[in-house]
Amino acid sequence: MGLLDGKVAVITGAAQGIGLEIARAYVAQGATVVLGDVNVEAAEKSAADLGGRALGVRCDVTSEDEVNALVTRAVDEYGTVDVMVNNAGITRDSTMRKMTLEDFRLVLDVHVTGSWLGTKAAGAVMRERKSGSIVNISSISGKVGNIGQTNYSSAKAAMVGLTKASAKELAYLGVRVNAIQPGLIRTAMTEAMRQDVWDSKLAEIPMARAGEPAEVANVALFLASDLSSYMTGTVLEVTGGRYM
Ligand SMILES: NC(=O)c1ccc[n+]([C@@H]2O[C@H](COP(=O)([O-])OP(=O)(O)OC[C@H]3O[C@@H](n4cnc5c(N)ncnc54)[C@H](O)[C@@H]3O)[C@@H](O)[C@H]2O)c1
Repeated sequence: MGLLDGKVAVITGAAQGIGLEIARAYVAQGATVVLGDVNVEAAEKSAADLGGRALGVRCDVTSEDEVNALVTRAVDEYGTVDVMVNNAGITRDSTMRKMTLEDFRLVLDVHVTGSWLGTKAAGAVMRERKSGSIVNISSISGKVGNIGQTNYSSAKAAMVGLTKASAKELAYLGVRVNAIQPGLIRTAMTEAMRQDVWDSKLAEIPMARAGEPAEVANVALFLASDLSSYMTGTVLEVTGGRYM
């Protein structure tokens, strides 16, 4: 018996990194997964590597048409959407003095508009069935604010507001919405970091190590499953104790 037996999950930005680990954890617990990613070749390859119950689909989360098409594809192929994970993300770090308006808007668009579109599209399916779980991947950067991340910290804090407001709108319909704030997790996004920046972040972590994508995925599994059946509008930190 798996925690997600018979469930259908849509995960954005799932071609690699945390999103792919979430897909792996869900498949291991019996779910069918649809991986949406702007990098469709990578999404298709990752879906094939996961096994038969996974599909890779092109989706730019900033496009309403593409997010709607992603959710519709899951419904057409597998009958419904039980779990939606808004995970797609990018960084465009620089201090505010140097940051362009374009890079500010782009980061807000991917994280905030993308999660709003995903919540709206999946929520529309879930409310009809009076059941579902939506998981938004925020960041501890949205709680504390990081130098060089006025765009990213704004976006990740906005995702908390989105989580709480949509949780209130959907609770009476049986749909739960929760967020995760990962800290320093070892993925392509953080491996691009300068060594001295990585070291200074590491020094702030009580557990004295970076997290692995699978350690975020296990929390996303908990929030997707009935183990968290009485939780909505919450924000779970997965940080090794950093910024507690
Ligand atoms: N790695 C960390 O330390 C960390 C910490 C906190 C939060 N996060 C968040 O976790 C999520 C996943 O990050 P990751 O570290 O796995 O990054 P990653 O760069 O490894 O993966 C991000 C994925 O999102 C996809 N993507 C980017 N823009 C997209 C768009 N417009 N539409 C659809 N897909 C798009 C990319 O193609 C990629 O496959 C992000 O939301 C990120 O902000 C990561």
